[in-house]
Amino acid sequence: MDCYEITAFGSLVRSTRPDPRPGPFEVAVRLRAASLNYRDLLVLKGRYPNARLPLVPLSDGAGEVRETGEGVTRFKVGDRVAAIFNQAWIEGPPPPRPRALGGDIDGMLAKTVVLPESGLVRLPDSLSFEEGATLPCAAVTAWNALFERTRLRPGQSVLVQGTGGVSLFALQFAKMAGAFVILISRSAEKIARVLPLGVDRAIDTERVPDWEREVLDMTGGQGVDHVVEVGGAQTLPRSLSATRPLGHVAVIGVLSGGEVRLPIFSLLSRQIQLSGIYVGNRDHFENMNAAIAKNGLHPNIGRVFPFSGASEAFRVLESGAFTGKLVISFEG
Ligand SMILES: NC(=O)c1ccc[n+]([C@@H]2O[C@H](COP(=O)([O-])OP(=O)(O)OC[C@H]3O[C@@H](n4cnc5c(N)ncnc54)[C@H](OP(=O)(O)O)[C@@H]3O)[C@@H](O)[C@H]2O)c1
Repeated sequence: MDCYEITAFGSLVRSTRPDPRPGPFEVAVRLRAASLNYRDLLVLKGRYPNARLPLVPLSDGAGEVRETGEGVTRFKVGDRVAAIFNQAWIEGPPPPRPRALGGDIDGMLAKTVVLPESGLVRLPDSLSFEEGATLPCAAVTAWNALFERTRLRPGQSVLVQGTGGVSLFALQFAKMAGAFVILISRSAEKIARVLPLGVDRAIDTERVPDWEREVLDMTGGQGVDHVVEVGGAQTLPRSLSATRPLGHVAVIGVLSGGEVRLPIFSLLSRQIQLSGIYVGNRDHFENMNAAIAKNGLHPNIGRVFPFSGASEAFRVLESGAFTGKLVISFEG
């Protein structure tokens, strides 16, 4: 089986492993596409906890069922599927020990994978394999942040940060729900590229470093109802200032660092809710897929690379010179 492995941190090599066969309650999936997340770069560089080498990277992939093991009832050969990010988190609260693909366990940069049937979901018919491969991490995280941990309502306002995977899914889901969306980005050119996705107002943070003031102006001095916080250390304090009393901040990302001093008095006096989000469970994924299918939503794909171009895809991810999702197609 053709795959990629991280054999030493910082080094991705193409290799071959024995073709895996499914055991009881397991399914062999022939992968047709995978996608990259910022987290995969942290794994490659050795800056992600629990990653043991050698490791097949990437949490996100989609393909079709090639073979089912004894006792499998959820899927049959030919079904179009994607894997859930944390193979141990099916429903309810998260288990104490995650089994995240491409981190705790081998991931999806392989032409065939074998996974428990419990760790797969059906792809919406409306999506291609490339589109389906973008869903497990970024989309489920954005969905959880807006609809599972809290309940975004029509007419509410949402702040999204940057033009990467989580943020553009949050933008698309928020627009689908009838929300008013403010997007911040460090690039005027990227803002222009994503405006057609329905951005209501955008702020170029290179031009307006104290962007939280502009968010307040745009919301009548109140602040937004929801923040999808991916920036981390340098954005979280500003995000809190840009949130209305009783508003919700989904704490997701660490793009500018993971340690921060918080203005506790301001937080408690305005009674802001902070939720830590770690992707989501299978139920969240299936709820999201139903919404995607019903609303005809299509993920925003920035670039597609061939399987042989996996290293190049990581380089583009690191450069930040893209919007939306970076996808690897296994065709050809
Ligand atoms: N907790 C979870 O469950 C979870 C799940 C998924 C992702 N994450 C985290 O969420 C973050 C985003 O992930 P992603 O996969 O969506 O990333 P991504 O696709 O690589 O996109 C990141 C975007 O954020 C902006 N950005 C980059 N560096 C920044 C910085 N220092 N300060 C502010 N903005 C910056 C850039 O947009 P502009 O150039 O337009 O500004 C960039 O395109 C990462 O920290 C990732 O680890 C967490």
